[in-house]
Amino acid sequence: MTNDGVNLGRRRFLTTATSVIGAVGAVGVAVPFVGSWQPSAKAKAAGAPVKASLSKIEPGQMITVEWRGKPVYVVRRTEETLAQLSAPNEVIKDPESEQPQQPEYAQNVYRSIKPEFLVLVGLCTHLGCAPMFRPDVGAMDLGGESWQGGFFCPCHGSKYDLAGRVYKNVPAPTNLEVPPYFYEKDTVIIIGEEA
Ligand code: FES
Repeated sequence: MTNDGVNLGRRRFLTTATSVIGAVGAVGVAVPFVGSWQPSAKAKAAGAPVKASLSKIEPGQMITVEWRGKPVYVVRRTEETLAQLSAPNEVIKDPESEQPQQPEYAQNVYRSIKPEFLVLVGLCTHLGCAPMFRPDVGAMDLGGESWQGGFFCPCHGSKYDLAGRVYKNVPAPTNLEVPPYFYEKDTVIIIGEEA
């Protein structure tokens, strides 16, 4: 969509929002500016934090949210995945996450605050393509038995596990980045800010 298209769409939205607030005011309900706590599109692009709800993510599933114009992957990992991630692994380049690709509180084997939920910037550390979520253990096109689920970059074939840790012998040099984030409550995280 062109800039003009965006502006036009935004103008329409603002007109509609103004009318709705006007109508609410007319009936005297005291809930003005509902939703005004949500950062605007411009603020988000400039780096405002974004909120993500975890409550509807099933074990083994991923959602994508946008932060600073980048995709952020949020994965709910299964018990099997967590057991596999904590086992010794010969195929991973930086298993202890020694490279500074995550905040200090995510420098652990799961690369996350709570083991169950993984939060990653979904941009390959080679040249920035968006890796595909491939949780299918044993996928024949990704090495068969040796594939324990993870992310596959279709641009030049880099592979990452379900903690975003890069495999050896692929073009990507480092693990996927973990953005700053914190739990606002049990089922809600804020991405782009620390507690
Ligand atoms: S951009 Fe992902 S492997 Fe090159």
